[in-house]
Amino acid sequence: MSASADTQAKTKVTALPGDGIGPEVMDATIKILTAANAPIEWEFAEAGAKAFERGVVTGVPRETLDSIATNKLALKSPLETPIGYGGKSANVTMRKFFELYANIRPVRELPGIATPFSGRGIDMVIVRENVEDVYAGIEHMETTGVAQCLKLMTAPGCERIIRAAYGLALAEERQTVTVAHKANIMKLTEGMMKRMGEKVAREFPGIRASQIIIDNCAHQLVIKPEAFDVIVTSNMNGDIISDLAAGLVGGLGIAPSSNLGDNAAIFEAVHGSAPDIAGKDMANPTALLSASIMLLRHIGAFDIAETVEQALFVTLAEGRNLTGDLAPRGHGVGTKAFTDQVIANLGRASAMRSRSYKKLELAAWPKLTAHAEPTDRELVGIDIFLETDMGAEQLGKTLEELSKYSPFKLTGISNRGVSVYPPTGGETFLVDHFAARFMLDTPFSLNNTTTAGQPEISYLVQRIGSKFTWMHIEKLQRFDGKDGFERPQGEG
Ligand code: NAI
Repeated sequence: MSASADTQAKTKVTALPGDGIGPEVMDATIKILTAANAPIEWEFAEAGAKAFERGVVTGVPRETLDSIATNKLALKSPLETPIGYGGKSANVTMRKFFELYANIRPVRELPGIATPFSGRGIDMVIVRENVEDVYAGIEHMETTGVAQCLKLMTAPGCERIIRAAYGLALAEERQTVTVAHKANIMKLTEGMMKRMGEKVAREFPGIRASQIIIDNCAHQLVIKPEAFDVIVTSNMNGDIISDLAAGLVGGLGIAPSSNLGDNAAIFEAVHGSAPDIAGKDMANPTALLSASIMLLRHIGAFDIAETVEQALFVTLAEGRNLTGDLAPRGHGVGTKAFTDQVIANLGRASAMRSRSYKKLELAAWPKLTAHAEPTDRELVGIDIFLETDMGAEQLGKTLEELSKYSPFKLTGISNRGVSVYPPTGGETFLVDHFAARFMLDTPFSLNNTTTAGQPEISYLVQRIGSKFTWMHIEKLQRFDGKDGFERPQGEG
């Protein structure tokens, strides 16, 4: 195959065969890569069901984490969390342990895989933020009937994922980066992603920057999917649209992904362990093989990546040796026969060309631009979240009485984010969870000490706590004259 491959130093990669069909698709992938002379030395490691069953609570043994930490690269088959072994997912363990903040999901029409969208030329990449947002799992029951999930998004978190999207656009010679967001509703969290998109875009004048509201993005993905190039978005949005987009080109069963961080990268199939067909020589290895092609490009083995990709394209286009999930009923072949066919097609060229790729350069976090400190920071008020069955009007009067010797003045009360006091005349359904907003006539400057105003807050919380159960408090701050908080709906 490639003459240069024999002389090229081998890169060590941790291979996680995983569960269910995992070992079969891993075996197929490694066979094809070996036949293609890929410059990889595999180091096998365990994760998933077997690890859980022998008492590893995270599903990922220490030796496996060490192997990935040393090699910095892993190819991973699907992992199962067996029933009865707690709620931790081995996949999430690895994602968080290695801070794999960028989930890259290429979505490309494949030859021979007929879908309602065939022929449209779909060829995009979805770049999903992988560690922040509501997926941090910061959840609390506030009252017996009110649950809360915190959506934490950070400036560095937004910056590095947007930069990853631009890095990817450069590496794959793509024209457009679209930030998909919900900034019209979540102005501070999703708005941060949108604004960071605008800021970083200025450094890449050669790439067209666009932005779209996530619901319209879902709509456009179905109406005109070929119009998208690189889409970058927050964790929850990305989770949904990346599966939607995979559905456009043949489904999750053939979709690969990579999870990238500063110090490690894990490549995987998007599908699960398919226990229904495990061990029956029925699994389609296309997704893991495609993930391994991403891995080859990641390590700079572009020629071998293209050889393997072209062999896969030829095999799919021929359509004679497809696994049962892709072939017409009764005409499928086994995993091994499909694998042999891909190997036989190594060196052949498909009518569908591979894209041109360069090495993806990720900006390491410490090198990112410093975040501007505000020159002026003030405490302007406080929200106190409390539990009561009292009506809004009576609650308002009671809180006004309780706060009368405090510098904080009650300006409004909201219930599930809707303003209910002073009375609005609206038909708001009330639950036993209110947010009382108190503002200061004279803000406390936080420029020299960020603890200013805390004794006054303590006094107010103590007064309110003498009559009500409070759950949490939120400081209302202003940064360089800009409110760092939102107004409840219905508040003037
Ligand atoms: P699944 O993806 O394993 O299976 C869904 C359907 O697709 C099944 O009918 C299966 O036979 C078929 N399928 C999936 N991959 C295929 C392939 N390569 N070739 C042919 N057919 C294929 O999803 P499910 O059943 O929800 O999950 C099974 C297990 O996998 C669960 O324990 C789940 O937690 C785990 N899982 C692991 C993931 C990972 O490690 N990244 C991702 C998703 C699920």
